[in-house]
Amino acid sequence: MDAIRIQGGVPLHGDIVIGGAKNAALPLMAASLLTAEPLTLPNMPELADIATMSNLLRQLGVRIDQSAFAFGSDASDAGATGRVMTLTAEKITSVTAPYDLVRRMRASFFVLGPLLARQGEAIVSLPGGCAIGARGVEMHLKALEALGAKIEVTGGYVHATAPKGLTGAHITFPKVTVGGTENLLMAAALAKGDTVLENAAREPEIGNLAECLIAMGAKISGMGSGTLRITGVPRLHAGRCAVIPDRIETGTYAIASAITRGRITLRGTRFDLLEGVFSVLRQTGVTVEPTEDGVLIAAENGLVGVDVVTEPFPGFPTDMQAQWMALMSTANGASMITETIFENRFMHVPELRRFGADVNVHGASAIVRGKKKLTGAPVMATDLRASVSLVLAGLAAEGETTVNRVYHLDRGYERLEEKLGACGAIIERVSGG
Ligand code: UD1
Repeated sequence: MDAIRIQGGVPLHGDIVIGGAKNAALPLMAASLLTAEPLTLPNMPELADIATMSNLLRQLGVRIDQSAFAFGSDASDAGATGRVMTLTAEKITSVTAPYDLVRRMRASFFVLGPLLARQGEAIVSLPGGCAIGARGVEMHLKALEALGAKIEVTGGYVHATAPKGLTGAHITFPKVTVGGTENLLMAAALAKGDTVLENAAREPEIGNLAECLIAMGAKISGMGSGTLRITGVPRLHAGRCAVIPDRIETGTYAIASAITRGRITLRGTRFDLLEGVFSVLRQTGVTVEPTEDGVLIAAENGLVGVDVVTEPFPGFPTDMQAQWMALMSTANGASMITETIFENRFMHVPELRRFGADVNVHGASAIVRGKKKLTGAPVMATDLRASVSLVLAGLAAEGETTVNRVYHLDRGYERLEEKLGACGAIIERVSGG
């Protein structure tokens, strides 16, 4: 198993180009199931999760073609750096998403809504729990039932049927769910009549999906608000929609700059995608300046501790919580980090303590007392964002750090060592860690 080895304590200077957002790309890929015509997605990142979704979609009958992106070839894709993926679901050959794939990546559950809407049937494995919490899917299922689907759960699989198609309904989510909102947007796009989704998630990835569905002929309004209105259409057609920049990759490298007291310009990204993080980053004393195609992050001086509470967008994202904790471990003074989205998302705490970080967890909150210096250590990754927080701590720490089990990182960070290395980080991948 690969590991990442870092010699820390080097301030990072340079440019990092941000890729397309994993969490936007995955539902956009699933949306290809809604039409027999091609869906073209520029700015597709190269990540393990994208390969897993490609495998699943191929098993369902989707043809996937990829090409390198010709920079500047299309003004609407400005800033895009990744590949262009074209997905064609001319004929769906299977409606089953097997346990083996769904278990590896919860986002496989995104095929449920589109398969049900187009084929009238979907058999999708229940994702099961994961490292950060129970992560149920009952809100997805209840909402699909409200659209007229019959849902049975047997043998660990959700068997959903709607032989006469889905019918629009008024749905109020009891709690904000990103995946639930996305599954329902896709299902409602082909339902008969109007659907209203209240207490819908407002994450930028939802806006990207709505924009993509509209390009395919869907009728959706209310983007950016908590109420989405969808008027179903009988069929969707070919479409093209660029994947938005990855706001979590943006925030992670912003912290890489801050935690090493460096100066990095993040390119190909957008300030507005991450205002919640940038505003607290400024409160710590870090300079955050929007640039023409991204953001400059500079932190020559000491930082002060600032409290955060994770919340649905536009609040502070749970996917940045572990990275924030690494940063606060090096700030002056104490800070409190409260996690409200997932019940078990502090697995990085014992690993951060191995660097000498002073962190105490009390229920859903962690108190971090900043240290003048962290020291490198061998550590173990537990999930995607926890792993990258260990890389960040390793970049700041004096001496050598080895982060084991880096396959978690490959799910969500493209060419991580290369991007950090180009800014002066002494970082390498070693096999067999
Ligand atoms: C998405 C993101 C993930 C991010 C999370 C919260 C993708 C692929 N993943 O995950 O990176 O951390 O949003 O911003 O986009 N819940 C239920 N029942 C349900 C659905 C959700 O109890 O039916 C709970 C979850 O366990 C969690 C909370 O609701 O505690 C929010 O989950 P949700 O917004 O659905 O997260 P995901 O879509 O799984």
